[in-house]
Amino acid sequence: MEEMLKTLPQHTCSWSKGKITFYKYQDFWTLQELVVGAHLAQQSFKAEPTDIFLCTSTKTGTTWVKSLAFAIVTRQKFDDSTTPLLTKNAHECVPSLEYELDIVDDNRKNSSLPLVATHLPYPSLPKSVIASNCKIVYVYRNTKDVIVSHYHFLRKVFNVANEDAPFEEAFEEFCQGISGYGPYWDHIIGYWKASLERPDRILLLKYEDLKKDPTSNAKKLAEFMGYPFSTEEEKAGVIEKITTLCSFENMSNLEVNKTGSIRVGGLENKHYFRKAEDGDWRTYFTNEMKEKIDKLIDEKLNGTGLILK
Ligand code: A3P
Repeated sequence: MEEMLKTLPQHTCSWSKGKITFYKYQDFWTLQELVVGAHLAQQSFKAEPTDIFLCTSTKTGTTWVKSLAFAIVTRQKFDDSTTPLLTKNAHECVPSLEYELDIVDDNRKNSSLPLVATHLPYPSLPKSVIASNCKIVYVYRNTKDVIVSHYHFLRKVFNVANEDAPFEEAFEEFCQGISGYGPYWDHIIGYWKASLERPDRILLLKYEDLKKDPTSNAKKLAEFMGYPFSTEEEKAGVIEKITTLCSFENMSNLEVNKTGSIRVGGLENKHYFRKAEDGDWRTYFTNEMKEKIDKLIDEKLNGTGLILK
């Protein structure tokens, strides 16, 4: 593994004061330990047809979709006053393929939870994920808010003070495709194209749509995963209870999410909750930045049929 790492292109983020180095593995950029995790998962993970993959690039709503999917799938076992989501961060409830392969395997054997999360781009998923024909949910978000969220998340995790980290430099790097699991547009295009080929197995959800209408999107998610809400549940307001439980307002105020850490890498749970605003980019972008990223995204998506507003 060490030899393989040495052969990979590397990029140290200028704005991070040398604290963050991305490696290019296959066609995406990520941190060193996650290259190792991706490689191991690709070598050994055996997907089952009953698995449900929650796929996202970073900062696009991973924590949210993990909570929603977990609450939906386990609702016969737990309600909104007994769910583990009240005492464990969503990342602990739904393990990630490239950080905690052993827990993913244990979970599938011992607790029959079918949910597995990953940030891997579609072409880099372990071959068995595609071969097993299991279901895949993909959540994406508007690029500009992802850029801002990504910058703040890395800054906090790597302890780089705001005043020491020029946002403009982070923006430029993102535009060059250098970001967690980036290029971001390639990540989306990979899942988008796959969803056109296999619409019954791949569901795309947009962060902004989830925000605008959590109820119908949670319903869509439940149906797709094979856990549809019954008419009685709908009448009893079960969907709304789940969306309220998983809302940013509720989740970010839970003690576990204010004070705890995730089990891998010791990242503090609070870093997964910032503002959750649609359009926060307006505070950070100049007109030139807006024009640059809009043009870039238009060029990258040209001919795909995908529109990212
Ligand atoms: P901001 O940085 O814009 O606030 P991820 O979970 O993929 O790491 O994404 C993190 C982003 O999702 C952060 O965005 C975070 O605030 C937001 N987020 C976390 N939990 C959320 C929830 N329950 N509902 C909506 N957004 C949420």
